[in-house]
Amino acid sequence: MSKSAAAGDKTAQPFLTDVKTLRERARKHLADGAVTSTYVGDVKRTIDILQSVLATEIVCVLRYTMHSIAASGISSDSVREEFAEHAEEEREHMTAVAERINQLGGKPNFNPEGLASRSASQYAEGENLVDMIKENLIAERIAVDHYRELIRFFGDDDITTRVMLEGILVTEEEHADDMHDLLIAHEGTPMLPDK
Ligand SMILES: [Fe+2]
Ligand SMILES: [Fe+2]
Repeated sequence: MSKSAAAGDKTAQPFLTDVKTLRERARKHLADGAVTSTYVGDVKRTIDILQSVLATEIVCVLRYTMHSIAASGISSDSVREEFAEHAEEEREHMTAVAERINQLGGKPNFNPEGLASRSASQYAEGENLVDMIKENLIAERIAVDHYRELIRFFGDDDITTRVMLEGILVTEEEHADDMHDLLIAHEGTPMLPDK
């Protein structure tokens, strides 16, 4: 190690790992891909959780796509457009989550078998336009709650997964807000009725 590097070690932030150690660590365990020794999370558990997030997003893609095609009736055009836009954004979430699973060394589970039970939100068709909007609002509220919990769970143990989920959460909150606005526009009800 050079003199200046040695001096740098003392003055630089002591909690940072020096470059040499980082390089050595990176060379070892190449098979682990993006998962390095500073990953404090439980990789297997993270993958399991993300499989359920993936299923949730797939179900959202399916539900919004179905609604964007099946929505009919007066003033349904703008609603269909909104559903189609959401379907596309759910597809982006789906892809991001699947890529993260892959990065962590897992195999993204796209198997249709058991999909509904792996998903946090449900696939509900809805009988009419207002029903569809309500079903989507319910699903979004479930997703928002679920992702908020997961963000707290991951904390600093898996920052990349947490940041990804934070980005998704922002969109899900917008989706919930959009559905709430549509519900008011079509039903004039400010809140969902109590079950
Ligand atoms: Fe989503
Ligand atoms: Fe959403």
